[in-house]
Amino acid sequence: MKALVTRRFPGHVSERLKDVFDDVRESDDSAPLDRKRLLDRIRGVEVAVVSLTEIIDEEVLTAADKLKLIVTFSVGVDHIDLAAVKKRGIRLVHTPDVLTPATADLTLALVLASARRLKPGARFVEEGRFTGFDPDLFLGLELGQSVLGVVGLGKIGSAVAQRAIAFGMKVIYVSPSEKKPEFEATRMDLPTALQRSDIVTLHCPLNEKTRGMIGVKELQLLKPKACLVNTARGPLIDEKALYAHLRTRPECFAALDVFENEPEVVPGLASLPNALCLPHLGSATAWARGEMARVCWEEAQRFAKGEKLRYEYRFA
Ligand code: DGY
Repeated sequence: MKALVTRRFPGHVSERLKDVFDDVRESDDSAPLDRKRLLDRIRGVEVAVVSLTEIIDEEVLTAADKLKLIVTFSVGVDHIDLAAVKKRGIRLVHTPDVLTPATADLTLALVLASARRLKPGARFVEEGRFTGFDPDLFLGLELGQSVLGVVGLGKIGSAVAQRAIAFGMKVIYVSPSEKKPEFEATRMDLPTALQRSDIVTLHCPLNEKTRGMIGVKELQLLKPKACLVNTARGPLIDEKALYAHLRTRPECFAALDVFENEPEVVPGLASLPNALCLPHLGSATAWARGEMARVCWEEAQRFAKGEKLRYEYRFA
């Protein structure tokens, strides 16, 4: 059986695959394969291990004439044309669970950073403007007196909510599911949650229903000193509208780990004092990335041996 590994992943994924596959095509470096090389190398392989930087669309799937399994080094599957994959009977594995704590931790870091104005505070010191303690300097939000609006209460959203509760926050949430969480939180519709939250954090998958869910109209609903955190997917937010909003409301804050057209960021956004921007670090702990790699090679090995898959994505 032949496999393709599109980039160098942690955990020696290619090496592990060589234990069970006859032929493993691998990338020469840690950069993702460009489109041309992806189209070329995916031909004839039965299993492809990909990352979220490779767009798996009709063109790729047409080139992938023998493909039976896609393994993505991500929990998100929005880089993959799910309908086209399902139609072709190709199976899909992703890496949920193992990155939940890391992503929830980073979200809390961004909640704290935005609530306590860490970016303008750090910049103030860097620029040599700190002249001594000032009782009025960079007054932020007290978490224990703030409401966190969690939009999308899946595994990561729930882990964020539980961490926030431990900090004394009141949690409200938006979810299509009527299932009650095991912690104290109140379900609301999106407009009400945006109006009532001091800090809003997004944890929805990106799909046609959620794309652009935070646009001009929704931003207008936020409190004047609200913080907006996004560690999910950039296109959930209309980034140009957010930039305009932050420019005219210096008291409003955004902390973003993901962007609408990654790796591009709307010009000017990252240098605003009230926008903290990170390079997609949600799952970036050595442990989480190692576990994501382990899920990838174990699942590919299971498939090659005809065993049951444990992290198979369930198509709608
Ligand atoms: C994912 O897995 O979908 C994250 O965005 C990267 O770890």
